[in-house]
Amino acid sequence: MARYSLLALLLLAAVATAVATAVMADAENDDILIRQVVPDGEADEDHLLNAEHHFSTFKARFGKSYATKEEHDHRFGIFKSNLRRAKMHAKLDPSAVHGVTKFSDLTPAEFRQQYLGLKPLRFPAHAQKAPILPTKDLPEDFDWRDKGAVTNVKDQGSCGSCWSFSTTGALEGAHFLATGELVSLSEQQLVDCDHVCDPEQYGACDSGCNGGLMNNAFEYIIESGGVQREKDYPYTGKDGSCKFDKSKVVAFVSNYSVVSLDEEQIAANLVKNGPLAVGINSVFMQTYVGGVSCPYICGKSLDHGVLLVGFGEGAYAPIRLKKKPYWIIKNSWGENWGENGYYKICRGRNVCGVDSMVSTVAAIHN
Ligand SMILES: *[C@@H]1O[C@H](CO)[C@@H](O)[C@H](O)[C@H]1NC(C)=O
Repeated sequence: MARYSLLALLLLAAVATAVATAVMADAENDDILIRQVVPDGEADEDHLLNAEHHFSTFKARFGKSYATKEEHDHRFGIFKSNLRRAKMHAKLDPSAVHGVTKFSDLTPAEFRQQYLGLKPLRFPAHAQKAPILPTKDLPEDFDWRDKGAVTNVKDQGSCGSCWSFSTTGALEGAHFLATGELVSLSEQQLVDCDHVCDPEQYGACDSGCNGGLMNNAFEYIIESGGVQREKDYPYTGKDGSCKFDKSKVVAFVSNYSVVSLDEEQIAANLVKNGPLAVGINSVFMQTYVGGVSCPYICGKSLDHGVLLVGFGEGAYAPIRLKKKPYWIIKNSWGENWGENGYYKICRGRNVCGVDSMVSTVAAIHN
């Protein structure tokens, strides 16, 4: 008996040491990160030089140039305040890395206006609800990329067309499941031709670079008769006139439905039906560099449309004595953002609203 309690005590001590080491390691990482992410707000010379150095590296890495000295200085000011934001995000979201991204010279307002594009919407009440699926045999890890159902990461450019990428991504997956063929589909067709409005909300209409909604886009695809290939109707990143050619349609929507807030149902629908179109609050994404984003606080108002392609159980987090499960999100900001264009966000509590607007689509096999 005594031996057992001694063993338990030893175990406890070992765990405590492990936790303490982890906390220390974390603090150290944090420190490195903060030094990497840069200054403390005080404009002492060291910090300023450091910010200038980061800004030069940033300009070289992302090929940025500014027309005038005024513009350059203005952008440098914004860059510095984004370094401070990244540092704050790193504190609020310690399991992710936040720092310099290709959006570091944009104010949050410019970023919202140019790189998002999800129309505000209440929960899509009128849409068909996805049937409840069994969840007991769900895998621990699942990734549609391994199964060839996901095209390369695309880049919406400075156009609020995220909704069209989320839509094509979901349909590309559904089309793959229906036909065995992975075909990159045209966002530009949706940008130019889809003006469908949500029947329940005034003003929630698909409007190209000014935003839209994935469910509206699925409606449009049903009404128009399908979507063309990317290569037959290439992306320009600008609003244009509709050049839809029905004879060239390659993918068709059979039906779409909304998935409940339940994360098990979301996972089950993902596994059964392919990648899902989801809305998310993108506030932590402007500074995201990698890791699992799991902010202590994050708004649940949705402003960005993305594609849910998988999930994982994550690495063991010694501090919480459990694993940190996450969703794998395909974004449309190019491969030079995040983890080769992808974002990981933790599962379990509707973080940043990621569970609130989830749609699944089925393609017609023809
Ligand atoms: C959606 O369409 C697919 C493929 O045509 C079909 O198998 C499925 O039953 C449909 N689902 C609903 C909810 O109508």
